[in-house]
Amino acid sequence: MIKFRFIAPNGPDYAAERMLRWEVLRKPLGMPPGSEKLPEEDQSFHLIASIGKKIVGCVCFFPETETNGRIFQMAVSEEYQGRGLGRQLFQTLERSLIKQGVRDVYLYVRSESEGFYQRMGYSGEGDLINRFGEMYRLMKKAFPQSSQQEIFPTYKEA
Ligand SMILES: CC(C)(COP(=O)(O)OP(=O)(O)OC[C@H]1O[C@@H](n2cnc3c(N)ncnc32)[C@H](O)[C@@H]1OP(=O)(O)O)[C@@H](O)C(=O)NCCC(=O)NCCS
Repeated sequence: MIKFRFIAPNGPDYAAERMLRWEVLRKPLGMPPGSEKLPEEDQSFHLIASIGKKIVGCVCFFPETETNGRIFQMAVSEEYQGRGLGRQLFQTLERSLIKQGVRDVYLYVRSESEGFYQRMGYSGEGDLINRFGEMYRLMKKAFPQSSQQEIFPTYKEA
């Protein structure tokens, strides 16, 4: 069974989350371990998908204001890609953000992954941008305004 939960940056599952991000997002680009670490991630929310003790997916959100922020480092382990896990993980994050009153989100996506984010309701803006030698596109989505105001999820380590 797949479980989704927010973890604390620097908590017990953080190293495994970082390893997944490196393997899926950076290793294929020839970048070394550690290159997946981004300055804003200590102030970000980290959602993971796990099956048993294995972390099989992750995604981060950096709140820039109370109602706006950036999604980043979305990764599904290779063996689970194409099986609907990315959709479940992403929609779990979105539901949580909507409950907290977030209205606008954006992210930079690799051109080969654009189709996934289009499926999730995101629209591309502007030209492709070169980062790490890869082409990325800015994509955005506006959530419907929610009357439910909840605080950001408290970190729970299972
Ligand atoms: C991109 C990624 C997060 C998608 O997760 P996933 O679990 O493989 O995707 P899902 O199986 O949940 O797919 C959901 C839908 O998106 C589509 N989709 C998935 N990846 C796609 C892609 N790269 N291009 C076009 N469509 C894609 C699926 O066909 C499915 O469509 P449906 O609505 O017809 O069912 C995952 O494949 C991944 O981690 N890839 C490598 C790293 C990466 O590129 N991360 C994003 C960096 S910007």
